[in-house]
Amino acid sequence: MITADLAGRVALVTGGASGIGLATVERLAANGASVAINDLAGNPRLEKEVTRLRGLGRDVAACPGDISQPAEVEAMVAGAVSRFGRLDFLVNNAGTPGTSAPIPVDDFARMDEAFWAKLVSINQVGPYRCLKAAAPHLKKTRGAVVNVASTAGLGYGGSSSVYASTKAALILLTTEWSHAMGPEVRVNAIAPNVVDGSGWDCRFDPEQLAAYVARLPLKRAGTPADYAETIFYLLAGAPYITGQTIVMDGGGAR
Ligand SMILES: NC(=O)c1ccc[n+]([C@@H]2O[C@H](COP(=O)([O-])OP(=O)(O)OC[C@H]3O[C@@H](n4cnc5c(N)ncnc54)[C@H](O)[C@@H]3O)[C@@H](O)[C@H]2O)c1
Repeated sequence: MITADLAGRVALVTGGASGIGLATVERLAANGASVAINDLAGNPRLEKEVTRLRGLGRDVAACPGDISQPAEVEAMVAGAVSRFGRLDFLVNNAGTPGTSAPIPVDDFARMDEAFWAKLVSINQVGPYRCLKAAAPHLKKTRGAVVNVASTAGLGYGGSSSVYASTKAALILLTTEWSHAMGPEVRVNAIAPNVVDGSGWDCRFDPEQLAAYVARLPLKRAGTPADYAETIFYLLAGAPYITGQTIVMDGGGAR
């Protein structure tokens, strides 16, 4: 496990109350960073995790807000900066499949206008809203951004082709934003594959998942901590890497 001295540095992690976001919060805070944890205002896990982490001596604060709502994003970023005085790292992690059952590629009826609008707004425009609000603060501190995309955005399949397209867009935007934010700020992404313990990779039932994982060179699903390790590296290290998406697929199935 890599470490860094992040005392005095401030991070904002969207969707930070569970899964990959929470593992990233834990990693950053354990290495001395102050962390603004964003999640939906109605998510009881947000306050619960803030209380738990403070009990461990971590410097964290809740920054609730829905990244599909422009005004809430502005308030969330302003709140984080006013609470901690600066912003060094942005992790655009919040995302949704928008469905608990996979939508076959030819089921056009289920991929209706409302479904498209919701997923594009959260998964694609959401990170843009956060970056836009955070940009002046990140440039001031010469910080870094990590976007959490998905191997679905690289054609591996996923919950729906709509979800896959939003993640493909985020991979493309990572390169675009590296040009927008350089030279002061690096912008990278990770593309996770299966997430151990995640309820929402609805491509597979448990049996199919076991068979899929057995075809990976690493023979296991990635844990949230595995994904957080690379996010941490891209934020705290990696001084000459920008515009890149690190594919974290356990080596890929065949
Ligand atoms: N779980 C997987 O199989 C998988 C695979 C590849 C990529 N990903 C990506 O990883 C990221 C994290 O997913 P996870 O597996 O940790 O899921 P998760 O459900 O554990 O965490 C996502 C968090 O985002 C929050 N969130 C959802 N919509 C939000 C919004 N509009 N505003 C603010 N917060 C919101 C949720 O409340 C939740 O706490 C997502 O971007 C997801 O697309 C997940």
